[in-house]
Parts: sequence; structure tokens; C-alpha cells
Amino acid sequence: MTDLLDIRGLNLSTLGAPLVKDLSLSIAPGERLGLIGESGSGKSLTAMAATGLLPRSIEKSGSVLLGGTQVIGAADGVLDRLRGTVAAFVFQEPLTALDPLMRLGRQVAEPLKRRARRDGQDLSGTALDRAVTELLEQVALPQPERIARSYPHEISGGQRQRVAIAMALACRPQLLIADEPTTALDVTTQAEIVKLLDGLVRERNMALLFISHDLPVVAGIVDRVIVLRRGVTVEQGPVGTVFSAPRHDYTRSLVFAARSLDRALGGTA
Ligand SMILES: Nc1ncnc2c1ncn2[C@@H]1O[C@H](COP(=O)(O)OP(=O)(O)O)[C@@H](O)[C@H]1O
Ligand SMILES: [Mg+2]
Repeated sequence: MTDLLDIRGLNLSTLGAPLVKDLSLSIAPGERLGLIGESGSGKSLTAMAATGLLPRSIEKSGSVLLGGTQVIGAADGVLDRLRGTVAAFVFQEPLTALDPLMRLGRQVAEPLKRRARRDGQDLSGTALDRAVTELLEQVALPQPERIARSYPHEISGGQRQRVAIAMALACRPQLLIADEPTTALDVTTQAEIVKLLDGLVRERNMALLFISHDLPVVAGIVDRVIVLRRGVTVEQGPVGTVFSAPRHDYTRSLVFAARSLDRALGGTA
């Protein structure tokens, strides 16, 4: 089967300073890949490169095939068609995806209307309201009608992330890219969001690129991991192998740091 995302020899730099070096990764339909590494290792830039969202100040070379289409150098119109339908993003900070001045229902309606147009349908009026409510129910938001009438600041951070996930799902993407989707949330809410993503990805047979500096979170949701350090891939493999028998010192230090933190918090790892 053709890979949904196939990155080959990706190099990113700014003003000649390398940020990501010769990175290659691929994700097949339905596959779940974790991208881990400390802050500043190049995870977000890699994710942005995957969907053509890189800032103009970043120089890029290599190949990024998303749904079989070359992203590097592609026109905005081509990228617009891929975004949302082939791949959709969930960001660390849900407010990135939300307009503070617009009721949430209207915001969720936008990608739903886009999907309907794509499928040659017209979605409006009560049918659209119903589709919004259904989508909010699918991300397990209580009282979806109330949430639809609310503004972003009127609901909690965890609820905002659920709304952002709903919007990412609206166009039924084949690949969900979640960049530190739980990092801004408290520990209990983090676990709930991971569980939600896990369920949604499974039900919808989506592929997942899950990005985090937090190993225990990644371990619970992906099959395979790539470990990034200062833009260089230092290790990759099945998640169980990499975490139980890390080969690289850097991976060992990440695993050790995660275990120490877990012990400090009273965990058992
Ligand atoms: N727009 C930008 N211009 C220049 N450098 C950037 C830009 N965005 C990120 N960087 C740098 O690239 C490196 C990788 O950043 P990033 O991918 O955001 O790391 P991570 O997501 O792993 O924390 C960092 O050193 C960061 O300072
Ligand atoms: Mg990042």
C-alpha cells in the first residue's frame, strides 16, 4: 500500500544553520508513529514540513509526499486540498485552532461545510446544526448544544482541545498529526485526551503522527517511534523495544528522565 506520508532526506535550515538533517520517515494508512525528542529538536518543524506549513524563513530540501503529492514547492491551492482531507493537525495549544471571537458551533461548522462541498453536498440550516452537535458528541463533549453556543473562553482547556480535535476530524482526514496535544493540559485531562485520540484513530482507521517530549504519553498510543535530537534521527523502532532497551545514550536519558518524573509523581514505572 502507498504510504500516506513519505518524507525522504528532509533538510531544514535557517540562515544556513541546520535545524533538521536528512530526516526520513513514512507512515502507512492506519499506522501510528511517535516523534519524540527534547524541546527544540525539530519535531514541530518536521510536522509543519509534512503539510507545507513551514514559515517562509525556513529553507527546505528533500522530498515530502503527502497522499502521493509532493508538498515541497507545491502551490497553496494544492496544499489546501491536502490539508484537512489527507492530513489534519491538532496543536499543543487549542487556541491556535480557535477564533476567540466566534461561537464554537460556527467554527466547527466551517470544516463540516468544506467537507460537504468536497463531497458535492450542500450542508446548511438544521442539518448543519445537527452535524455540529454530532461531531461534538463524538469527541465526548457533554451538552454539545451548550458548547456550540459558547465562546472559547467559556469552556475549559481540555474541552477546547476536544473542540479542536472535532474540527480536525471534520474533513475525515486519513492522517491525524497531533503535535504535543496534551502538553498544555493538567495530568488528568492529558490522560483523557490521549484515550479519546486513541479511540477516534482506531474507530476511523486513521493513521497518526503523535509528537511529544513525554515518553509515557507516546508509549500508550503509537506502534513505532523515531527519536530526534537536534534535528537528527538517533534511534527508531517498535515502541516497546526502543523504550525497554534504548540503544542510544540520548534515548536512555529521555527514558530515565521520564521514569524519574513518574517516580516523583508516585507512579510505578
Ligand atoms: N520560524 C523559525 N525560524 C527560525 N528558527 C526556528 C523557527 N521555528 C523553529 N526554529 C528553531 O528550530 C529548532 C527546532 O524547533 P521545533 O521544531 O519547534 O522544535 P520542537 O518542536 O522539537 O520543540 C529550534 O532550535 C527552534 O529555535
Ligand atoms: Mg514543538
